[in-house]
Amino acid sequence: MPAHLNEWLNLIIRWMHLIAGISWIGSSFFFMWMDSHLEEPKERSDRKKDVEGELWMVHSGGFYLVEKYLIKPGWVPDKLHWFKWEATFTWITGFFLLGVVYYMGGGLYLIKPESGISSGVATAIGLGALAGSWLVYDLLWKYVFANNAKVGSAVSFALAMGIAYGLSQVFSGRGMFIHIGAIFGTLMVANVWMRILPAQQKMIDATQRGEVPDYTPGIRAKQRSVHNNYMTFPVLFIMLSNHFPSTYGHTHNWLILAGIIVCGAGIRHFMNVKTPFSKAALVTSIAGLFGLFFYTAPPAPAPAAANSQGVSAEKVDFAKVQAIMQNRCVTCHSAHPTDDAFKTAPLGAMYDSPAQIKAYADKIKARVVDAETMPLGNKTGMTKEERKLLGLWIEQGATIP
Ligand code: HEC
Repeated sequence: MPAHLNEWLNLIIRWMHLIAGISWIGSSFFFMWMDSHLEEPKERSDRKKDVEGELWMVHSGGFYLVEKYLIKPGWVPDKLHWFKWEATFTWITGFFLLGVVYYMGGGLYLIKPESGISSGVATAIGLGALAGSWLVYDLLWKYVFANNAKVGSAVSFALAMGIAYGLSQVFSGRGMFIHIGAIFGTLMVANVWMRILPAQQKMIDATQRGEVPDYTPGIRAKQRSVHNNYMTFPVLFIMLSNHFPSTYGHTHNWLILAGIIVCGAGIRHFMNVKTPFSKAALVTSIAGLFGLFFYTAPPAPAPAAANSQGVSAEKVDFAKVQAIMQNRCVTCHSAHPTDDAFKTAPLGAMYDSPAQIKAYADKIKARVVDAETMPLGNKTGMTKEERKLLGLWIEQGATIP
């Protein structure tokens, strides 16, 4: 696909995905918030006798009154608004975005260069992981863990991290991260459509017939909505994670991801309920993020005398650095890229002149020396020695003539 068309497809779909995602997660946060702020009605007139709780709010020049009723036999409001299209639209746009960024374009963002798999195989693995995860998750929670949420959560988390580890063998860090995010997103949307909405519909149908609804599917549905609730923070992080190469570019990226998922869910737990345990979860999660900050830190530069890089500690000749940049980077990072897929410099980063290279020294260290996420998909075939040389040049102060 022409690079320019690809960029605009990416732009439009990403924009829609973000808007849909905000609408979905925003409305779900809002409902959670309302639920936790309901108060006993002040007066119990006839009309209000069944009100579970009420809430007054002010917004955009008016007062809003929300009254919560439980689903009871014999009465269904004439017009009901369902919240289902936000989730659906988020998934559809997300799926297309996954295709545009990761499955098309030869798997440049998706495949771990050393794994040597083709982009067709990588796509099949990715799609298989999405579908397979839902099947396994749904069956487990339907038949095995329905009454044992604690063990179920631990096993599900371990399975997710097993998938992360497995995918990290064939996918780039970004590719693996985004697939875990896409798996969580898929579980969330499938939960909405296949478990939560049908349960609500069944209860409403029963009340319409004047029967007392069977609340069991509702209880099961509640379990799935709790899962969705705890998956939101991790998913939101993953969707932003491609900006943070110290996470996905780390050698143990699946472990970093596991840590972030636990911390995200821990913070969410504190926002849901205020118990001694949830307070401890908050403190532990914040401490955990600090821990990850240190764990992902690049190694300290070795003392010049006993240089551990294995390269002689002699001053690196800038001409060598420039030659490497010219061969490995400038095909994309230039005012006039020659790459087949990138026609404008990615993120505006250009290395045509010595001053430009120097200005990017810190970022080059992060991407090329520490995380090794550049060149993208190692498309230009950069060697370990070249990475070491760039690292040494930066360590020595990144001087240019
Ligand atoms: C095949 C094209 C391609 C090649 C070759 C390539 N890059 Fe990149 N680079 C990208 C893309 C695309 C991005 C933006 C997406 C991302 O962040 O991963 C990027 C982003 C970067 C960034 C982040 C810039 C910022 O402002 O945050 C740095 C630094 C970088 N590349 C350095 C390099 C270096 C150094 C080389 C050569 C050793 C190189 N890249 C080779 C495509 C390439």
